[in-house]
Amino acid sequence: MDTAMLYALRDPLGIPAHPLLFLILGVATWALHIAAVHVLLGSSVLAIRGALSKDDHWRRLADAMVNTAKVAVSVAIVIGVAPLLFVQVIYDPFWYTSNVLSAWWVIGFIFILIVATLALFIFYALNHGLRTHKTRCPGSMILAVLLFLVVGFIMHALSVQMLEPDQWKEWYAPNGVIDASGRSIHAFDPWRFGFFIALSIPVIGIWLFGYRRYLQGRHEADTDYLDFLKRMGTRLGAVGTLVALVLLVGWMRGLPEDIAGFATGIWPIAAAAALIVAAAFPVLLGRRLDRGLWGYTPILVATVAMIVIATMREAVRWVTLFGVHGYNPLDYKITMDWYSTGLFFLTFGVLGGAVVTYLLTVAWQAGQTEGTYTPSRAVNRIGTAGIVLLLLWIAQYFGFGLWTAYA
Ligand code: HEM
Repeated sequence: MDTAMLYALRDPLGIPAHPLLFLILGVATWALHIAAVHVLLGSSVLAIRGALSKDDHWRRLADAMVNTAKVAVSVAIVIGVAPLLFVQVIYDPFWYTSNVLSAWWVIGFIFILIVATLALFIFYALNHGLRTHKTRCPGSMILAVLLFLVVGFIMHALSVQMLEPDQWKEWYAPNGVIDASGRSIHAFDPWRFGFFIALSIPVIGIWLFGYRRYLQGRHEADTDYLDFLKRMGTRLGAVGTLVALVLLVGWMRGLPEDIAGFATGIWPIAAAAALIVAAAFPVLLGRRLDRGLWGYTPILVATVAMIVIATMREAVRWVTLFGVHGYNPLDYKITMDWYSTGLFFLTFGVLGGAVVTYLLTVAWQAGQTEGTYTPSRAVNRIGTAGIVLLLLWIAQYFGFGLWTAYA
């Protein structure tokens, strides 16, 4: 497909701020999305493994991981929306075409996700206190994981199909006969998909170090359990990194000929190095792991590693769409809209900041308190501020909308 045609598919109105902003936010939010997906998949699998075990440590871990998965699914879904918005803004010719070509799956995505989330919650509801109670209906959690993988696979196919504009016409009208059903998945790469999914193994390993540190903050008496977590975390980090690196190599070796040079460039090396550092970091910390806030630093390092990996993923898209097809997302026409851009950052920083600070503080302090937890006045004030800001936000949303429509 020639470049002019790709440009013709752009929104003629342009975009409301500089495309670089959308590019950076797209990469950063996708890194957070996929990290939450990794925690979701990792904790769900550990929950299944533990729920099927008779070992007390495993059952205790399963109990904690069901709760983790329950929260992670919400975070993964909510944060998934952000890269969805950004990719639509600067890569609309590619994203929409890819979506339309597999429309049936795009719609199905929502239903599959709903069933998967319900299955997870059924398991959660049936299994309070796995440590002392028999496991009920482990099949629901297994089903949830399988369906989450289908959901991820749909996103994967959409992400790959958008990179092959040369194939679009053939996919739309195979041998000249139009197929407008949208029922087919046209392209996928098992190595690439496998790589992103396999990252769940080291990520959940690193997550276990954070969980361990959290328990230490509560003066956990069961040191055997803490050692168990440390062993598990280290093992998952090492094995998972190895598996992910093999899949990364497979992905890079299979890159299309016109971007094959990418495989030997800086990005795959940076991604591999970031992953290795993140997995090795808890081990490198040695005894410091048990001191102060050091115990949480592995999660910080893993977050940076995820951003490096997300940047590498974006670089693949860049060399394909700009390098091969001549489409430059950074030359998108800008129709600057200060209101929406300002509102975005205010929502993110002020409203989001207040609500997230409140939720994290309450969750943290409640978890560290023995007996009944009563938030301090300062914490309550942050909560109230969050609610007031939210009400103001809703008022401005409808107020501005009505003013624009009728004034
Ligand atoms: C909970 C199950 C989910 C899993 C396992 C999952 C997994 C993945 C994976 C593996 C990718 C990378 C595909 C690739 O590059 O090859 C991806 C991309 C993406 N996911 Fe998810 N995802 C899930 C849910 C969601 C949800 C609910 C949303 C949106 C509401 C979402 C939005 C996205 C977007 C927009 C991308 C592509 C971003 C881009 O190309 O810039 N995901 N997801």
